[in-house]
Amino acid sequence: METTFDEAVPETTNHISPDCIGMIYGDIGPTRFKCSVLAPVEKSEFIQVNHDTCGMVLGRVDTIERKTDLSIEKAHLLAKGEHVEIEEMVSASIVIVGYRDERNLLQVPRTPFKAGEEVEKASENLIRKVIGLKEDRKTGAYIGMLRGHDVQIYLDINGLIQKHVSILAKTGGGKSYMAGVVLEELLKHNVTTVVIDPHGEYSSLAQRAKSVQLGEKFHVVPNSYESKLAVFTPDTKLNPNAKSLKFTLANLQPRDILALTKSGSVRTHLTSLREALDIIRTSRKDYDVDDILRVLEAQDDQSNFSLMNELEYLREVDIFAREGTKIDELVHKGMTTIINMKGTPPDIQELIINRVATALFELRKMEKIPPLMMVTEEAHNFCPQQGKAATSDIFRTIASEGRKFGLGLMIITQRAAKVDKNVLSQCNTQIILKVTNPNDLKTIMASVEGLTAGMADEIQMLPVGVALVTGGNITMPLLVDVRPRETEHGGKSVKILE
Ligand SMILES: Nc1ncnc2c1ncn2[C@@H]1O[C@H](COP(=O)(O)OP(=O)(O)O)[C@@H](O)[C@H]1O
Ligand SMILES: [Mg+2]
Repeated sequence: METTFDEAVPETTNHISPDCIGMIYGDIGPTRFKCSVLAPVEKSEFIQVNHDTCGMVLGRVDTIERKTDLSIEKAHLLAKGEHVEIEEMVSASIVIVGYRDERNLLQVPRTPFKAGEEVEKASENLIRKVIGLKEDRKTGAYIGMLRGHDVQIYLDINGLIQKHVSILAKTGGGKSYMAGVVLEELLKHNVTTVVIDPHGEYSSLAQRAKSVQLGEKFHVVPNSYESKLAVFTPDTKLNPNAKSLKFTLANLQPRDILALTKSGSVRTHLTSLREALDIIRTSRKDYDVDDILRVLEAQDDQSNFSLMNELEYLREVDIFAREGTKIDELVHKGMTTIINMKGTPPDIQELIINRVATALFELRKMEKIPPLMMVTEEAHNFCPQQGKAATSDIFRTIASEGRKFGLGLMIITQRAAKVDKNVLSQCNTQIILKVTNPNDLKTIMASVEGLTAGMADEIQMLPVGVALVTGGNITMPLLVDVRPRETEHGGKSVKILE
């Protein structure tokens, strides 16, 4: 019983232009009207229509519906197998975005459009001009194409570094894939980047994609960034291809060392540990867990056994050494450093990230390292809204002060509601993929400017591979078909492990 669009075209419209998708009808306002739909068009697509004084104006399909005369009675007859004539027409509600006036300011018409005016699919030029999209390959990160249009979308890379960015979506929504796309662009543009990678998903940026789906449409060819990547890990047994990441114990207080042990029981062991450290410090500046154990053993005191057990755990975690990794080994101008923490316990991850992030911030302040982007997966663990992580303070500091010093933050999380609002609200560019959790949606609606209630519905139904992007140089929320990856996506293996 489907009526095709061709059948729906009235005979009298033979003269319409090939780009015409419909005609303005009914009651018409200056920024809103209805359009009879004569050619395929989807919700959220951009259209253009002539206005008698403003010229070509850009609009957007807000809602779309098929109006039919099939009543409940007729539907019953249809169910009984009787022949029923159905008349149906598709109607779209159009909301005007605006036009650029002679001073290039965004304006909306102040008088209604004319009935019967042709509505066309928007031209690439008009979309770019009105929305203010620049196709700047030099300073832009190409993330995909405007959904329904042949318009490439670029995020301004300077804006990302100076004003932070968030990638929000439920598990399996495509966050890591999207982050991989952005990282490929940062690599391509020689942006210094540090990736906090709790699952070891991003080392695959070194691997050329075996196949690129829809590569031609998106203008994407396989690539490898191996020569610009450095991978560090606290656990070289589990991640043998990465360089070892080590920290010195010397600048940890006894209390902090004990907090990292398995039981975390600070009180019982504090005095013994303090005494042991005092002994070591008389003879050396740098020490590791073995050195402490040796002193405790030499004391031959039974009451030290349980402390020694606790320290054994830290020794097994194997992140402390007499000499730690230097930050100038870790960060190189124009390169991406991945901190692969696969297999590292959560409390140790926090310690590592706290050390690294604090060092990045302090050294950036003194301009001892180049401006850089810090990308954080599972951000809800490192800057939680409730409770406190060892990394809570430094994330807040970077979120609020990083921009002054050229230290950008990219927050990736499946639980927007569980990320510190003080951090999330500092993210100026948002990349939102499918989100269904009501609390996360509420957080997103509250923290992202320019989202309408209709967009909340849209976010819940986004297919994987489509992002709602807003902020930064993107002046209004846009649906973007995320471009395919140039490198292998490393997220799949994580799924299997989970
Ligand atoms: N833009 C995309 N194009 C094609 N496949 C995608 C895209 N985004 C995600 N996927 C696929 O969806 C799955 C989940 O994506 P992933 O980024 O790992 O999710 P998340 O990190 O949000 O849990 C992956 O197997 C990935 O291959
Ligand atoms: Mg992921």
